[in-house]
Amino acid sequence: MVEPAIKYRLIKEEKHTGARLGEIITPHGTFPTPMFMPVGTLATVKSISPEELDEMGASIILSNTYHLWLRPGEDLVAEAGGLHKFMNWDKGILTDSGGFQVFSLADMRKIEEEGVHFRNHLNGAKMFLSPEKAIDIQNKLGPDIMMSFDECPPFNESHDYMKRSVERTSRWAERGLKAHANPKTQGLFGIIQGGGFEDLRKQSARDLVSLDFPGYSIGGLSVGESKEEMNRVLEYTTPLIPQLKPRYLMGVGTPDSFIDGVIRGIDMFDCVLPTRIARNGTCMTHKGRLVVKNAQYARDFGPIDDQCNCYTCRNYSRAYIRHLFKADETFGLRLTSYHNLYFLLDVMRNIRQAIKDDQLLEYREHFFEEYGYNKP
Ligand code: GUN
Ligand code: ZN
Repeated sequence: MVEPAIKYRLIKEEKHTGARLGEIITPHGTFPTPMFMPVGTLATVKSISPEELDEMGASIILSNTYHLWLRPGEDLVAEAGGLHKFMNWDKGILTDSGGFQVFSLADMRKIEEEGVHFRNHLNGAKMFLSPEKAIDIQNKLGPDIMMSFDECPPFNESHDYMKRSVERTSRWAERGLKAHANPKTQGLFGIIQGGGFEDLRKQSARDLVSLDFPGYSIGGLSVGESKEEMNRVLEYTTPLIPQLKPRYLMGVGTPDSFIDGVIRGIDMFDCVLPTRIARNGTCMTHKGRLVVKNAQYARDFGPIDDQCNCYTCRNYSRAYIRHLFKADETFGLRLTSYHNLYFLLDVMRNIRQAIKDDQLLEYREHFFEEYGYNKP
């Protein structure tokens, strides 16, 4: 019996909700959950250095198999000594499998039992990605956590299509597990699909749990469905995951969905949203989103968020950052990216504290009162 590379330790369950405080134990350290993972698609969190990520309290970042496969290629990363060494980040790394990216970025997809044929988004070249290939690339990249190759269909696909897709994704997960060459140093997670169909989420979870992955993610969400719909899916899906395994909600990264996901038992989140919107001048704050480029901030010498203690908010004003954006100075998007990541990591720190204190519902109410969204 091989000791798994990734383990989960449950520390405490919140008294009044499904939230839990825990730790995820990886070859690059032990990190507190619930957690938010900043996205570093191409082995960099855009415009932010690993030292800055560390300083703001990030513990695991997410990178992408699909993008690194296209450039610089997994063999070059392996030659550099793996992703951690290549990008100078010695905490946790998780890579997504390429499943989602092939479906969202590539052209002319053709899904077969064997895998997916498509043309890449860079030069249109014909490519083929299979469950085995996705694992082989991730084995060479060397992240702590790898993801199974899955299909992420649109939320509104028919039950009939979704059922065939879920069954294929289960077969792909099993093939990936068989192809995994480094179970001692890298953990492979399964991805539960099934859209908004409870019976299919159950079937997907049952199939994957029988394969005994060291962690499970819930995929196929944040793809256009309503908040209520997502919460409903989480309510019946998280209880299907064994209690002593980490539960990861993929592609979700707004503070309100962190709180509502954690309440339903989620431990891990990732999203490009904070860094993507930061680059066009949109900041996340305790009072909702703030578009710092707007004319109303031209003479506003206060910080982006007066409740935020980040490097950006301690040192720079809305007026200055607005000026940088207006003048196309890249320091502006560094400052907003830093703030947005810090803000979300800080919301997570507050969520963990609220779980410790059994005060998560109170924290939720207080947060939403200021932030503006208040549906359960
Ligand atoms: N990122 C966001 N959603 C998904 C999903 O359903 N599958 C994968 N592989 N990645 C995702
Ligand atoms: Zn800030």
